[in-house]
Amino acid sequence: MKQRLEQSHAALKTLIEKRGNDFYPSFHLAPPAGWLNDPNGLIYHDGLYHAFYQHHPFSEHWGPMHWGHATSNDMIHWQHQPIALAPGDDYDKSGCFSGSAISHEGKLYLFYTGHNWLGEEGDDSQIYEAQCVAVSEDGIHFEKKGIVLPPPEGYMHFRDPKVWYQAGKWWMVVGARDEKDQGQVLLFSSETLFEEGHQWNTQYTVLGKTDDKNVYMWECPDFFPISNENDFALVFSPQGKHAEGYQFRNQFQTGSLIGKWSPEKTFDLRGGFLELDNGHDYYAPQSFQTPDGRRVSMGWMDMWNSPMPSKNEFWAGCFTLPREIIFDKRQNRLRMLPVKELESLRGEKNTIQPINLINQSIKLMDNAQSVELDLTWSLDSQAEKFGLWLGKGLEVFIDKQSNRLIINRHYPQYDISGYRSAPLPAGSEINLRIFIDRSSIEIFVNQGDLTFSSRYYADHNDRQLQLFATSGSAQLISGEYWPLNSINK
Ligand code: FRU
Repeated sequence: MKQRLEQSHAALKTLIEKRGNDFYPSFHLAPPAGWLNDPNGLIYHDGLYHAFYQHHPFSEHWGPMHWGHATSNDMIHWQHQPIALAPGDDYDKSGCFSGSAISHEGKLYLFYTGHNWLGEEGDDSQIYEAQCVAVSEDGIHFEKKGIVLPPPEGYMHFRDPKVWYQAGKWWMVVGARDEKDQGQVLLFSSETLFEEGHQWNTQYTVLGKTDDKNVYMWECPDFFPISNENDFALVFSPQGKHAEGYQFRNQFQTGSLIGKWSPEKTFDLRGGFLELDNGHDYYAPQSFQTPDGRRVSMGWMDMWNSPMPSKNEFWAGCFTLPREIIFDKRQNRLRMLPVKELESLRGEKNTIQPINLINQSIKLMDNAQSVELDLTWSLDSQAEKFGLWLGKGLEVFIDKQSNRLIINRHYPQYDISGYRSAPLPAGSEINLRIFIDRSSIEIFVNQGDLTFSSRYYADHNDRQLQLFATSGSAQLISGEYWPLNSINK
């Protein structure tokens, strides 16, 4: 692998020199250049946070998957590290696909999918996928150890292992597609995490499977406890789901199933599949635990097959902000909140005086590109539409006609146009905590009741930020905003 890593680093270096900055995030993790998709191997190990990611260091397009790597003291400020994995061995000829990390007895283990095209490159109808492992003593350099879990009979699409320890055993969930082309998650266990020459037991149970005949694959499963009473969440990204009304509008979605689980028992579901995020760009999130016990998750803030104007700058893809996951028992669903560490990015606080906007807009900033806002609006407002405009192409607003919160993008020059929305939460007020970066916006509604994650592509001279109300009046009850410092050196 050493020689291939050297080639990858040389290629990346050339790309970094060409990389543009207009859309490059100021406070989100993105590759130094080239392509990024799923978060992989998120973990706190030996005093540092580690984030790995699906990476193509040779170009801004998806290609033979490597694992990029960054480390951090606070999950906010990231230091790029050498590429951790390069594909090309017998068992990962066509790519080192997604997976997870385990910190065990001082070593860092990466579990990933060795992806192999058996026919033409890119022909998904003839593939071999198996779970592989790589080990590191220093947390930076990894030695590949080959396959630890081959696919069970009848499974060809078999990827994205997430491993954890519980009740004296190691457990692994893997995303799969059965013989009838239906999405599933398979559960495996092992007494031993890894031993030279030893493989995991291929016996499995089906932890969950689709009840929607269109869904042909469940990717990137994550299974974790959300209470002390055996409540578990299965978070995954189904493929093939059709849009229904306002829902499931993205090409692929990410959501959760919640239920009771304990080792050797079946997953006893309560309720159905719920989308985790309501924006345009949210996929394949992965969770990990902080040393103080929080469950934190980051996702890929982009979407397969979306136009990606940042490719003109020789990079594509970034993570969402780290979000703390909280189980809302009453509503039987997950909430996501920005982690408290993000407050360290704040510059000087600006207060917006309460105001009644009557058919008007007020300017907050000429050039919004790295800012956090906290706005509380009255939902008793009569205006047809009120909220926030960023340049001419992006609006976030409360729509009093449909009673929905809407994020609308219009960049016809990039073939991007359209909105995502969610029903307004109950109550007479709505709180919006909004993070605006150079090409992304994340919105947390009422302490994580709803979230929206979307990419947007405003020209550098079209970034004016305004509050507005049309056809009537809208009351801003309180407002604050902070310029955010960049994490880039
Ligand atoms: C999800 C995914 C995974 C796969 C990886 C390949 O976005 O398709 O299932 O491991 O991306 O890059």
